[in-house]
Amino acid sequence: MSQETITSSERQIRQSEKPPKGSRVMSGMRTTARLHIGNYFGALKNWLELQHEYECYFGAMDWHAMTTAYKTPHEIQHFVRDIYAEFIAWGLDPAKTTIFVQSRVPEHLELNMFFSMITSMGWLERVPTWKDAEEEAKANDTHNLGRFSYPVLQAADIAVYSATHVPIGQDQISHLELSREIVRRFNFLYGAKLPEPKPIFTSTPTLLGSDGRKMSKSYGNTFNLTQEEDELTKTIRAMPTDPARVRRNDPGEPTKCPVYSYHKLFSKPEDLPWVETGCRTAGIGCGDCKKRLTENINNLMAEPRAKKKELLQSPDTLDSIIDDGCRRARKVAKKTLEQVRECTGFQVSGGDAF
Ligand code: TRP
Ligand code: SF4
Repeated sequence: MSQETITSSERQIRQSEKPPKGSRVMSGMRTTARLHIGNYFGALKNWLELQHEYECYFGAMDWHAMTTAYKTPHEIQHFVRDIYAEFIAWGLDPAKTTIFVQSRVPEHLELNMFFSMITSMGWLERVPTWKDAEEEAKANDTHNLGRFSYPVLQAADIAVYSATHVPIGQDQISHLELSREIVRRFNFLYGAKLPEPKPIFTSTPTLLGSDGRKMSKSYGNTFNLTQEEDELTKTIRAMPTDPARVRRNDPGEPTKCPVYSYHKLFSKPEDLPWVETGCRTAGIGCGDCKKRLTENINNLMAEPRAKKKELLQSPDTLDSIIDDGCRRARKVAKKTLEQVRECTGFQVSGGDAF
């Protein structure tokens, strides 16, 4: 996002402080695909820390997945379970943190409806991510109303839990600013007291795909967060290396190699000089280098992989964890909607009043 597109109130929220005790944190992930390491380093890893300090609400966002993947709803629901299991496998504690599925808390949609009435088209048109994506959206059949109003639903996701804070990267600031604007207007019009959500800025490193290009589902180069050992071996074996290393004796330059960029993420610090020197002096071969990387990642994945498998293999247990998370989320969401109904005089049912 260019500097010019930042409004003054955006600038105000750029300085985030550490949230005070009692803050409520909300975030979510779209369920369009398996989680990849970008989801981990950009979000999940931060959530794992936040859950120990704050009351947290983390969601598998299937309605948001529908904004682009509306042709394959069953697949979206497959990923809901997969991602939910993965959240737990990597350490989100369902006893401590409320992990929900967006579509199972219909209050999101009810609040979204209110919010969509008070959001001016101009606000949405100005969201830079939409402007950037519009041509592409036209080309690939996702120039739909739901996608356009994606940030309104996102505002409802946050406000429905009366969340005070949202962990985001700097690139999502315009979405959060819009959420704040919507909440502010809602409070102003109806005398409600929904909190204006503030950011918790987290680092969102840009990770390379396994082929060294930008990681993207459309390139087929995403590096999944949890992989079976043979899948992992295959992915890493297929990774390109520094093209200067044609023969085993040719020295290479690690900074030109995606394998090295993964070593930096996953390997022990003492392995890095081994790669750097070994590569530059041709002391190690790319095979050795990849083998070490595979071992290191495999060690890190071993426990989550086993835990995820265990969850997916006992669907009843997983179901009851999901049910419990959604129930707890809904309880909080209903409370917010009570306030919303009171302020507006609307007796919207949320589906279960009769
Ligand atoms: N947009 C987020 C993503 O791309 C998912 C999301 C939906 C979200 N609603 C949210 C994140 C509310 C933070 C707050 O994965
Ligand atoms: Fe890449 Fe490692 Fe080969 Fe160097 S030795 S080119 S870092 S794979």
